[in-house]
Amino acid sequence: MDDDVSIRIATVEDVLRLVQDKNDRHHLREHLDHDRGVLLIALLGEALVGHLFLRLGEPEEEELRNGLPGVALIQHLKVLEAYRRRGYATRLLDEAARQLRARGRRTMALGVDPKNEGAIELYRKVGFQAWGDEPIQVDRVDVLDDGTTHRSREDCLVFTKEVFP
Ligand SMILES: CC(C)(COP(=O)(O)OP(=O)(O)OC[C@H]1O[C@@H](n2cnc3c(N)ncnc32)[C@H](O)[C@@H]1OP(=O)(O)O)[C@@H](O)C(=O)NCCC(=O)NCCS
Repeated sequence: MDDDVSIRIATVEDVLRLVQDKNDRHHLREHLDHDRGVLLIALLGEALVGHLFLRLGEPEEEELRNGLPGVALIQHLKVLEAYRRRGYATRLLDEAARQLRARGRRTMALGVDPKNEGAIELYRKVGFQAWGDEPIQVDRVDVLDDGTTHRSREDCLVFTKEVFP
């Protein structure tokens, strides 16, 4: 039953136990090790359905630090393929908004690949608005099969949402 999904704050131990994807595992663990924010996970029983990292500290990107002071960034939003289109990403985003309100924070933002039409559709549906017309460039770090990391730059559209009505 879809209703059995629960969303909670996760620990590094949860990441090591539940997150199989090498890239996600690497980045989520690093964020938690550096205390950068809150990891939310959606679980169906013991199975991982999806995750979202809510970055509460300053964004890495200068444009965001200067243009959106005090913003919290949504990162690493993913719902595993078998569980998509059941509203779980929407629920993770709702919980992120709740976490922000509880901390007295007003704005959340995220960056998305301009070609990721599905994600953009989701963000617009849940009330995000485009921030500026042009993509910004962000660093991307991929973990390769041999465990080394590969850095590149990629375009990212920025969307924002106020979490207070
Ligand atoms: C994008 C993603 C997180 C969406 O997760 P999800 O749980 O399927 O999303 P939801 O069920 O909450 O979707 C809510 C609404 O968003 C829109 N939407 C979501 N995915 C969509 C898609 N692939 N194509 C078109 N619209 C989509 C729809 O309007 C959907 O409502 P509907 O199912 O009633 O039509 C998921 O596809 C995913 O993990 N993709 C790979 C990782 C990724 O791209 N993450 C985003 C990085 S910025």
